[in-house]
Amino acid sequence: MAFPATRLRRLRINPLVRAGLQETDLSARRLMAPLFVRPGRGVRLPISSMPGQYQVSIDELVREAQGLRRRGIVSILLFGIPSKKDNVGSEAYAASGIVQQAIRAVKKAVPDMLVAADLCFCEYTTHGHCGIIRKGDVDNDATLKIIARTAIAQARAGADIIAPSGMMDGMVKTIRQALDKNRFKNTLIMSYAAKYASAFYGPFREAAESAPKFGHRHSYQMNPANAEEALREVAEDLAEGADLVMVKPALPYLDIIRRVKDKFHVPVAAYNVSGEYAMVKAAGQRGWIDEKRVTTEILTGIRRAGADLIITYHAKDLLLPRI
Ligand code: PBG
Repeated sequence: MAFPATRLRRLRINPLVRAGLQETDLSARRLMAPLFVRPGRGVRLPISSMPGQYQVSIDELVREAQGLRRRGIVSILLFGIPSKKDNVGSEAYAASGIVQQAIRAVKKAVPDMLVAADLCFCEYTTHGHCGIIRKGDVDNDATLKIIARTAIAQARAGADIIAPSGMMDGMVKTIRQALDKNRFKNTLIMSYAAKYASAFYGPFREAAESAPKFGHRHSYQMNPANAEEALREVAEDLAEGADLVMVKPALPYLDIIRRVKDKFHVPVAAYNVSGEYAMVKAAGQRGWIDEKRVTTEILTGIRRAGADLIITYHAKDLLLPRI
């Protein structure tokens, strides 16, 4: 069939037809909001490179979580800024660590919210790298030991999802074994499986105070030019027991999201990272783009690429259909 029997414009003829036949939906349940928690009370420090985002103390975090829940956002991802850093990032796994305290407080105040805990050490180490340093580089296997300790501490505090973001080999297997041994069989693992060494993390490193003090992350995060390697990373993490796999960042890697979805048929998360957010905010503030429409278009595009869940700082700005 062809024109004139076929007229594709009929499918766009009015708002009801357009809405009824829309292929991709963006609803609040698809969004996970990242939040930064730091010690103190009544603290709400604006993050200058991420307008609308704050480092908050636990009391403020609870309010934030309640506000998100009211808007239909059912999941959050927690990052901690510790009171003190050390060589091995011990506040990441201390029972009294800032994220562990935050998880307990949020789960108590908002029980019907999914709480994911980012598992990494760059915010907790003096050197700003994602693990234990030996001979000028992150030592993979030494880092696995503190990854296991941190996962257990986070699960004990009540985290529903453990989200390792350090790109260490064997991190998912290590976490699954540690959780299972400690009777946390139902704690999920969302692995940052294909995480690229990206310049788009710039604003986050201000937000989390986690920039490396020397060198870079190229020996553990992926080369942005590689796609086949992303599929290997995902296959490996799934074999090790990951429940969800993440592609990060999102916008420059939509092809990776699609390929992962098509090949593995598993839940896929995409992280719409700090630099992607900052660009939209900056252009929106200048009046160069319509921020609301651009945001919806970006997040819809990430969904259309195949993401089931989008981790995004835009979550609280969107008014979306609820579950
Ligand atoms: C920690 C971590 C980073 C992000 C999430 N977890 C930064 C990094 O790897 O340097 C980035 C998130 C963002 O940019 O929004 N490893």
